[in-house]
Amino acid sequence: MMAFSAHVGGACGRDARTEFMATIYVLMGPQGAGKGTQAQLLADRFGLPIVATGDMLREIAKTDTPLGHHVKAVLARGELVSDDILAEVVKERLCNNDCRGGSILDGFPRTLPQARLLEKAAQEDGCRIVVIKIDVPHELLLRRLTGRRICKRCNSIYHLEFKPPKVDEVCDLDGEPLFTRPDDKEEVIRQRLQLYMEKTRPLLEYYDETNRLYRVDGTGTPENVFSRIAEIVAKESNGGSECRSMSEV
Ligand code: AP5
Repeated sequence: MMAFSAHVGGACGRDARTEFMATIYVLMGPQGAGKGTQAQLLADRFGLPIVATGDMLREIAKTDTPLGHHVKAVLARGELVSDDILAEVVKERLCNNDCRGGSILDGFPRTLPQARLLEKAAQEDGCRIVVIKIDVPHELLLRRLTGRRICKRCNSIYHLEFKPPKVDEVCDLDGEPLFTRPDDKEEVIRQRLQLYMEKTRPLLEYYDETNRLYRVDGTGTPENVFSRIAEIVAKESNGGSECRSMSEV
């Protein structure tokens, strides 16, 4: 397996000395915090592409290949897919042209090795990283996840109680049936939350130490939460639009 940075950073071939500092916004928080919901609202408002590793892995899991079968089994158990596979998946996406002006990461990084790899790649490509942690009390998470429904085609996110579709179990946008994610069963949710505490939560310290961590209150309606996050993104986008060379960073 080649180093992630070799894949992501160098492979993109961007000239960090001449491009403006694009910002990578990393949405963090436990399962059910609302990362996917907020990523979509941010993309709509700020026109940034979403890089959602969970969605990407679920697409891979649909394929009839050894990798697809492996990923499907890992997702169903609520475990983390290996860092090596994530490196491959994320590299291609971040090197896409639409990510040159910045992006929203939903679900990545989730381990310290992933965070280090993203760091290196961002440095090589002259991007800044801003992390937004969505705080939600533990007891609300389970309620949000067990009531979640997803559109089979466009991945729009609904909730039976908090964001019901206009017609029962049907997507408002494209009329496709909604489904319950296989990993939204109570026992699998507990396993995912446990892994979040063990592997992902320690990353917050890592970003806090370098003053790139914002925490927002994730309670209230999705619109309430969005207005808190949008304020941060608007502020950081202004700060990030200056031309700076890597030597000044
Ligand atoms: P992924 O798809 O990323 O899932 P997750 O991290 O478990 O996060 P969730 O999608 O469960 O929660 P969310 O915070 O996005 O909440 P949402 O907005 O949907 O990953 C799935 C799996 O892929 C992982 O378990 C792992 O196996 C693998 N994977 C992915 N990335 C990986 C990585 N980097 N490394 C290794 N493995 C990886 O909201 C939840 C519900 O609440 C919805 O119904 C929504 O409508 C509702 N809701 C949202 N906000 C509000 C609000 N303010 N008020 C009321 N309801 C709300």
